[in-house]
Amino acid sequence: MLKKWSAAVLSGLLVVGALSACGGEKADDAGSGTKDDGKITMGFAQVGAESGWRTANTKSIQEAATAAGIELKFSDAQQKQENQIKAIRSYIAQKVDIIAFSPVVESGWDTVLKEAKDAKIPVILTDRAVDSKDTSLYKTFIGSDFVLEGKKAGEWLVKEYQGKTDTVNIVELQGTTGSAPANDRKSGFADVIKADPKFKVIASQTGDFTRAKGKEVMEAFLKANPKIDVLYAHNDDMGLGAIEAIEAAGKKPGVDIKIITVDAVKDGMTALAAGKINYIVECSPLLGPQLMDLAKKVIKGETIPQRVLTEESAFTPEQAKTELPNRKY
Ligand code: AHR
Repeated sequence: MLKKWSAAVLSGLLVVGALSACGGEKADDAGSGTKDDGKITMGFAQVGAESGWRTANTKSIQEAATAAGIELKFSDAQQKQENQIKAIRSYIAQKVDIIAFSPVVESGWDTVLKEAKDAKIPVILTDRAVDSKDTSLYKTFIGSDFVLEGKKAGEWLVKEYQGKTDTVNIVELQGTTGSAPANDRKSGFADVIKADPKFKVIASQTGDFTRAKGKEVMEAFLKANPKIDVLYAHNDDMGLGAIEAIEAAGKKPGVDIKIITVDAVKDGMTALAAGKINYIVECSPLLGPQLMDLAKKVIKGETIPQRVLTEESAFTPEQAKTELPNRKY
C-alpha cells in the first residue's frame, strides 16, 4: 500500500497537480505519484456471480491485477447494494490506494462515494454507471454503452420484420431492476421499435440476469400469452433459461419464437450457432487490463478521460459459428 505523503511534499504536489489537472482528473485527490513498497492496493466491489458474463468479468479483473502487480482486495456483493456499500466502507477503512466497483443499481451512491472522496481514495466505476450528479465523486467510468446495445437489438428486429404488416408480439426479460444495463437496454430497444406500431411489447419483467429466473419468468409469459413472436432478453443467461421453458412448452426456440439477447458469452454463442438464438449484441466483460492501466494513471496523477467506452460487435448465427472457436469466455 502507498505510504502517506508528508504534508509539505503533498502541498507542493498539489500546486503542480492543480496547474496540470484537467478533464476528469482532480488535483486535490489525484494519486500520490510514487510509492514506497512498489505496490498499489485496489479494493474491488463486484456485483455478484449472477451470469457467465460476470464470471468472465471477475476473471479478467483478477488476472489483470496479477499481471499489473496490483494487490487486489475482492468482494462479491451477491447482487445487493448494501453489501457493496459495506465492502466500499471496509476498503476506505483499510486505506486502499484505489477503489473500483461495478454498481449493482444506478442510484443511492452519493454518500459512500463522498466518504471515499473525503478519505482521498480515488474511485473508478467499471461496467455500470451511477446516477450521481456530482461527477467529481469518481475518476472515470469504463464500460459499454448499454443504450446502444438496446438500439442494436431493436434495429435487428426492425430489419427482420421489414415489409411485414402483422402484429409482432414481443416479451422482454429485463435485467436487475434499477441497474444501468436493465434501464438502458430497455430504453434503447423501445426507442427503435416505437417507430413501427406493429411491434408490441406484451409483457416485460425482470429475470435478474440469471438463468433460473429467466426460465421461471418465461414459463409465466408462455402460460399467459398464447402468441409470442419474439423474446428480447437483456442477457444471454436469461435467454438460455427461457430456451429451456420454450422447449418444455413444445415450441422451437429461434423458429417459433425469435430470440435476441445481449452479452455473447460462449454458452450464448453456442445456442446462437445452433439457431436457438437469432441475434446477440455483444457486451464485453474483459475490462480488467484497461481498468488496471487506468488505476495506475490515476495513482500517478495523470489525466484520464471521464468515460472509457468498450468496443463491441453483434452476431448472427453464421457469424457465431466463425467466432466460437476464438471465444475466450
Ligand atoms: O452489467 C453487465 C451485465 O451484467 C451483463 O450483461 C449481465 O450478463 C451481467 O450480469
